[in-house]
Amino acid sequence: MKKAQVVFVLGGPGSGKGTQCVRIVENYGYTHLSAGDLLRAERSREGSEFGQLIDNHIKDGKIVPFEITIKLLKKAMEETRKLDEKKIHFLIDGFPRNEENLQGWTTIMDGEADVNFVLFFDCSNEVCINRCVERGKSSGRTDDNRASLEKRIQTYLQSTRPVISLYEKQGKVRTVDASCGVDKVFANVKTILDKEI
Ligand code: ADP
Ligand code: C5P
Ligand code: MG
Repeated sequence: MKKAQVVFVLGGPGSGKGTQCVRIVENYGYTHLSAGDLLRAERSREGSEFGQLIDNHIKDGKIVPFEITIKLLKKAMEETRKLDEKKIHFLIDGFPRNEENLQGWTTIMDGEADVNFVLFFDCSNEVCINRCVERGKSSGRTDDNRASLEKRIQTYLQSTRPVISLYEKQGKVRTVDASCGVDKVFANVKTILDKEI
Protein backbone atom coordinates (compact mmCIF):
# COMPACT_ATOMS: atom_id res chain seq x y z
CA MET A 1 0.00 0.00 0.00
CA LYS A 2 1.26 3.45 -0.94
CA LYS A 3 2.13 5.74 1.94
CA ALA A 4 -0.40 8.49 2.64
CA GLN A 5 0.76 11.99 1.67
CA VAL A 6 -0.17 14.56 4.28
CA VAL A 7 -0.38 18.33 4.52
CA PHE A 8 -0.79 19.63 8.06
CA VAL A 9 -3.01 22.72 8.22
CA LEU A 10 -2.28 25.04 11.14
CA GLY A 11 -3.15 28.53 12.32
CA GLY A 12 -4.95 30.20 15.21
CA PRO A 13 -8.57 29.46 16.10
CA GLY A 14 -10.71 31.17 13.45
CA SER A 15 -7.82 31.74 11.04
CA GLY A 16 -9.90 30.03 8.34
CA LYS A 17 -8.42 26.51 8.24
CA GLY A 18 -11.75 24.75 7.81
CA THR A 19 -13.06 27.28 5.29
CA GLN A 20 -9.96 27.00 3.10
CA CYS A 21 -9.80 23.20 3.39
CA VAL A 22 -13.31 22.99 1.91
CA ARG A 23 -12.13 25.12 -1.04
CA ILE A 24 -9.03 22.98 -1.48
CA VAL A 25 -11.10 19.78 -1.54
CA GLU A 26 -13.34 21.31 -4.23
CA ASN A 27 -10.35 22.15 -6.42
CA TYR A 28 -7.73 19.51 -5.65
CA GLY A 29 -7.84 15.80 -4.90
CA TYR A 30 -7.44 16.01 -1.15
CA THR A 31 -9.42 14.44 1.65
CA HIS A 32 -10.01 16.85 4.54
CA LEU A 33 -9.77 15.57 8.10
CA SER A 34 -10.25 18.07 10.91
CA ALA A 35 -8.90 16.88 14.26
CA GLY A 36 -11.36 19.18 16.05
CA ASP A 37 -14.32 17.79 14.06
CA LEU A 38 -13.23 14.21 14.79
CA LEU A 39 -12.93 15.01 18.51
CA ARG A 40 -16.37 16.65 18.55
CA ALA A 41 -17.86 13.59 16.83
CA GLU A 42 -16.18 11.29 19.34
CA ARG A 43 -17.48 13.47 22.18
CA SER A 44 -21.06 12.89 20.97
CA ARG A 45 -20.68 9.22 20.09
CA GLU A 46 -22.85 7.07 22.26
CA GLY A 47 -20.76 4.78 24.42
CA SER A 48 -17.56 6.81 24.00
CA GLU A 49 -15.36 6.52 27.07
CA PHE A 50 -13.75 9.87 26.25
CA GLY A 51 -16.86 12.06 25.87
CA GLN A 52 -16.50 13.93 29.13
CA LEU A 53 -12.75 14.32 28.88
CA ILE A 54 -12.99 15.74 25.36
CA ASP A 55 -15.80 18.07 26.40
CA ASN A 56 -13.77 19.50 29.27
CA HIS A 57 -10.66 19.96 27.17
CA ILE A 58 -12.50 21.71 24.34
CA LYS A 59 -14.28 24.16 26.68
CA ASP A 60 -10.98 24.99 28.35
CA GLY A 61 -9.12 25.29 25.06
CA LYS A 62 -6.73 22.54 26.16
CA ILE A 63 -5.19 19.90 23.94
CA VAL A 64 -6.72 16.44 24.27
CA PRO A 65 -4.19 13.64 24.97
CA PHE A 66 -2.54 12.72 21.69
CA GLU A 67 -3.42 9.02 21.86
CA ILE A 68 -7.10 9.82 21.46
CA THR A 69 -6.67 12.28 18.60
CA ILE A 70 -4.21 10.19 16.63
CA LYS A 71 -6.36 7.08 16.95
CA LEU A 72 -9.29 9.04 15.46
CA LEU A 73 -7.14 10.44 12.63
CA LYS A 74 -5.63 7.04 11.84
CA LYS A 75 -9.04 5.40 11.75
CA ALA A 76 -10.46 8.12 9.48
CA MET A 77 -7.49 7.79 7.12
CA GLU A 78 -7.86 4.02 7.00
CA GLU A 79 -11.60 4.23 6.35
CA THR A 80 -11.02 6.70 3.51
CA ARG A 81 -8.44 4.43 1.90
CA LYS A 82 -10.57 1.33 2.37
CA LEU A 83 -13.33 2.99 0.34
CA ASP A 84 -10.94 4.22 -2.35
CA GLU A 85 -7.31 3.18 -2.28
CA LYS A 86 -6.36 6.01 -4.66
CA LYS A 87 -7.19 8.55 -1.95
CA ILE A 88 -3.74 9.03 -0.53
CA HIS A 89 -3.65 12.84 -0.22
CA PHE A 90 -4.87 14.21 3.11
CA LEU A 91 -5.28 17.68 4.59
CA ILE A 92 -5.01 17.24 8.33
CA ASP A 93 -6.53 20.36 9.85
CA GLY A 94 -5.76 21.49 13.40
CA PHE A 95 -3.00 19.00 14.03
CA PRO A 96 -0.31 18.75 15.42
CA ARG A 97 -1.36 21.28 18.07
CA ASN A 98 1.55 20.64 20.43
CA GLU A 99 4.82 18.70 20.71
CA GLU A 100 3.06 15.62 22.14
CA ASN A 101 0.76 15.55 19.09
CA LEU A 102 3.81 15.75 16.87
CA GLN A 103 5.85 13.13 18.70
CA GLY A 104 2.88 10.77 18.86
CA TRP A 105 2.35 11.18 15.13
CA THR A 106 5.99 10.49 14.39
CA THR A 107 5.94 7.34 16.50
CA ILE A 108 2.62 5.96 15.32
CA MET A 109 2.34 7.17 11.72
CA ASP A 110 5.89 7.42 10.39
CA GLY A 111 5.73 4.19 8.41
CA GLU A 112 2.29 4.99 7.03
CA ALA A 113 2.37 8.65 6.06
CA ASP A 114 4.75 11.32 4.75
CA VAL A 115 4.26 14.91 5.88
CA ASN A 116 4.86 16.95 2.72
CA PHE A 117 4.54 20.42 4.23
CA VAL A 118 2.60 22.62 6.66
CA LEU A 119 0.07 25.10 5.36
CA PHE A 120 0.06 27.91 7.91
CA PHE A 121 -2.77 30.45 8.05
CA ASP A 122 -1.30 33.51 9.68
CA CYS A 123 -3.43 36.27 11.18
CA SER A 124 -3.62 38.38 14.31
CA ASN A 125 -5.15 37.12 17.54
CA GLU A 126 -7.69 39.91 17.36
CA VAL A 127 -8.95 38.79 13.93
CA CYS A 128 -9.07 35.19 15.18
CA ILE A 129 -11.11 36.10 18.24
CA ASN A 130 -13.54 38.32 16.34
CA ARG A 131 -14.19 35.64 13.72
CA CYS A 132 -14.83 32.96 16.34
CA VAL A 133 -17.14 35.21 18.38
CA GLU A 134 -19.07 35.87 15.16
CA ARG A 135 -19.09 32.14 14.33
CA GLY A 136 -20.37 31.50 17.87
CA LYS A 137 -23.67 33.20 17.02
CA SER A 138 -24.61 30.16 14.97
CA SER A 139 -22.01 27.42 15.47
CA GLY A 140 -23.38 25.99 18.71
CA ARG A 141 -19.76 25.39 19.72
CA THR A 142 -19.08 25.47 23.45
CA ASP A 143 -15.72 27.16 22.82
CA ASP A 144 -16.73 30.05 20.52
CA ASN A 145 -17.05 32.53 23.41
CA ARG A 146 -14.58 35.09 24.73
CA ALA A 147 -13.69 33.16 27.89
CA SER A 148 -12.79 29.98 25.96
CA LEU A 149 -11.13 31.97 23.19
CA GLU A 150 -8.65 33.62 25.54
CA LYS A 151 -7.58 30.16 26.64
CA ARG A 152 -7.49 28.87 23.06
CA ILE A 153 -5.25 31.75 22.00
CA GLN A 154 -2.93 31.07 24.94
CA THR A 155 -2.74 27.39 23.99
CA TYR A 156 -2.08 28.36 20.40
CA LEU A 157 0.77 30.73 21.35
CA GLN A 158 2.32 28.45 23.95
CA SER A 159 1.89 25.04 22.34
CA THR A 160 1.15 25.29 18.62
CA ARG A 161 3.46 28.10 17.52
CA PRO A 162 6.52 26.13 18.70
CA VAL A 163 5.45 23.23 16.47
CA ILE A 164 5.17 25.60 13.51
CA SER A 165 8.65 26.92 14.37
CA LEU A 166 10.04 23.38 14.35
CA TYR A 167 8.68 22.82 10.86
CA GLU A 168 9.94 26.25 9.79
CA LYS A 169 13.47 25.18 10.66
CA GLN A 170 13.02 22.23 8.30
CA GLY A 171 11.85 24.57 5.52
CA LYS A 172 8.46 22.90 5.52
CA VAL A 173 6.14 25.81 6.30
CA ARG A 174 4.10 27.53 3.57
CA THR A 175 2.65 30.70 5.10
CA VAL A 176 -0.54 32.34 3.88
CA ASP A 177 -1.75 35.78 5.00
CA ALA A 178 -5.12 34.73 6.41
CA SER A 179 -6.33 38.20 7.37
CA CYS A 180 -7.83 39.09 3.98
CA GLY A 181 -11.08 37.89 2.45
CA VAL A 182 -11.82 34.23 1.75
CA ASP A 183 -11.25 34.52 -2.03
CA LYS A 184 -7.96 36.36 -1.69
CA VAL A 185 -6.71 33.84 0.87
CA PHE A 186 -7.68 31.00 -1.44
CA ALA A 187 -5.88 32.63 -4.39
CA ASN A 188 -2.71 32.56 -2.28
CA VAL A 189 -3.36 28.97 -1.24
CA LYS A 190 -3.70 28.01 -4.90
CA THR A 191 -0.38 29.61 -5.77
CA ILE A 192 1.26 27.51 -3.06
CA LEU A 193 -0.46 24.24 -3.97
CA ASP A 194 0.18 24.65 -7.69
CA LYS A 195 3.88 24.93 -6.92
CA GLU A 196 3.87 21.83 -4.71
CA ILE A 197 1.92 19.46 -6.91
P1 ADP B 1 -10.77 27.61 11.75
O1 ADP B 1 -11.15 26.26 11.16
O2 ADP B 1 -9.36 28.00 11.48
O3 ADP B 1 -11.11 27.73 13.20
P2 ADP B 1 -13.00 28.64 10.14
O4 ADP B 1 -12.68 28.26 8.74
O5 ADP B 1 -14.04 27.84 10.84
O6 ADP B 1 -11.65 28.71 11.02
O7 ADP B 1 -13.40 30.17 10.14
C1 ADP B 1 -13.78 30.83 11.33
C2 ADP B 1 -14.91 31.83 11.04
O8 ADP B 1 -14.40 32.89 10.24
C3 ADP B 1 -16.06 31.22 10.24
O9 ADP B 1 -17.25 31.79 10.68
C4 ADP B 1 -15.74 31.60 8.80
O10 ADP B 1 -16.91 31.73 8.03
C5 ADP B 1 -15.04 32.92 8.96
N1 ADP B 1 -13.95 33.11 7.99
C6 ADP B 1 -13.10 32.19 7.49
N2 ADP B 1 -12.20 32.73 6.66
C7 ADP B 1 -12.47 34.05 6.64
C8 ADP B 1 -11.87 35.18 5.95
N3 ADP B 1 -10.80 35.02 5.16
N4 ADP B 1 -12.40 36.40 6.17
C9 ADP B 1 -13.46 36.56 6.98
N5 ADP B 1 -14.08 35.55 7.66
C10 ADP B 1 -13.59 34.32 7.48
O1 C5P C 1 -9.47 22.96 15.36
P1 C5P C 1 -10.64 23.25 16.22
O2 C5P C 1 -10.83 24.72 16.48
O3 C5P C 1 -11.89 22.59 15.72
O4 C5P C 1 -10.31 22.58 17.62
C1 C5P C 1 -11.21 22.74 18.70
C2 C5P C 1 -10.62 22.15 19.96
O5 C5P C 1 -10.41 20.75 19.82
C3 C5P C 1 -9.27 22.69 20.39
O6 C5P C 1 -9.36 23.95 21.02
C4 C5P C 1 -8.82 21.59 21.35
O7 C5P C 1 -9.49 21.66 22.59
C5 C5P C 1 -9.30 20.34 20.60
N1 C5P C 1 -8.22 19.80 19.75
C6 C5P C 1 -7.23 19.04 20.37
N2 C5P C 1 -6.19 18.53 19.63
C7 C5P C 1 -6.12 18.75 18.31
C8 C5P C 1 -7.13 19.51 17.66
C9 C5P C 1 -8.17 20.04 18.42
O8 C5P C 1 -7.26 18.84 21.58
N3 C5P C 1 -5.09 18.27 17.62
MG1 MG D 1 -11.87 24.50 12.14
